[in-house]
Amino acid sequence: MAQGEAVRAAYDAVAGIYDEFTGNNNYELWFGELLPKLEELGLRQGALLDVACGTGKGIGPMLDRGWTVTACDISPGMIEQAQEKFPEGVKFDVYDMVELPHLGDFDLVWALNDPVNYLVDDGDLERAFASMGANLAPEGLLVFDCNTMKIFREAFGADVEDKRGDLGTWRGLGGFDDIYGAEISSEGIETSVHRERHWPVDVVRAALIAAGLEPLAAIGQREEGAGLVLSPDCDEDRDHKIIHVAKRAAA
Ligand SMILES: C[S@@+](CC[C@H](N)C(=O)[O-])C[C@H]1O[C@@H](n2cnc3c(N)ncnc32)[C@H](O)[C@@H]1O
Repeated sequence: MAQGEAVRAAYDAVAGIYDEFTGNNNYELWFGELLPKLEELGLRQGALLDVACGTGKGIGPMLDRGWTVTACDISPGMIEQAQEKFPEGVKFDVYDMVELPHLGDFDLVWALNDPVNYLVDDGDLERAFASMGANLAPEGLLVFDCNTMKIFREAFGADVEDKRGDLGTWRGLGGFDDIYGAEISSEGIETSVHRERHWPVDVVRAALIAAGLEPLAAIGQREEGAGLVLSPDCDEDRDHKIIHVAKRAAA
């Protein structure tokens, strides 16, 4: 099965339990730390394109901050959940991020919580960056996060089993050639397999440049106790995520 189809099937399967399964993710806390860093890099409030929006967990905090939001995802099941949360005021659609149409000129285009790691095929990184970049306003920012090696070791190792009571189980399947797997099983839903590729910072930066973008920052993010630490440098063995920020390259 092609990766796009596999991702769609995996997220259609988990859509109904996604919010509870990821209940620990605190978007208020996250955006409270992240948005000021993006403002330092030139972010201006306005229109957001939330790519790979999932069930829309990141949308409410941005609407509350006065942003207008357009959102899309490859999984119709995830979009359905998001639409239930925001029946009005947000435009939703189903798109693969490697071939987005021109939806507008956005001040911020982001893909949060590791969608870029789901691009496993050679060339897809550049295609996704070009298609997201084509939706940026001239001074707009592209922002996305990638899982670090620390996360692939700690959450995708073949010995990892994280039972979350009635919610289900996350099981690591191990990795080979930079591609790692995990499965989510839960009563009443089809077991889904999630294949993700580790993307090193230099590879991401080269793909951004090839797509006509200028890398601005690679911010390290790690959880510490109940808080989040964002560092101007990043470290594959210390951080949980690396948040990449880019803008259109000067013509
Ligand atoms: C871990 S979820 C994150 C969802 C949301 N951004 C959030 O923060 O809750 C990853 C999302 O990426 C989407 N995704 C993965 N590959 C994609 C692609 N090629 N195009 C669009 N969406 C994709 C999945 O369907 C899923 O909803």
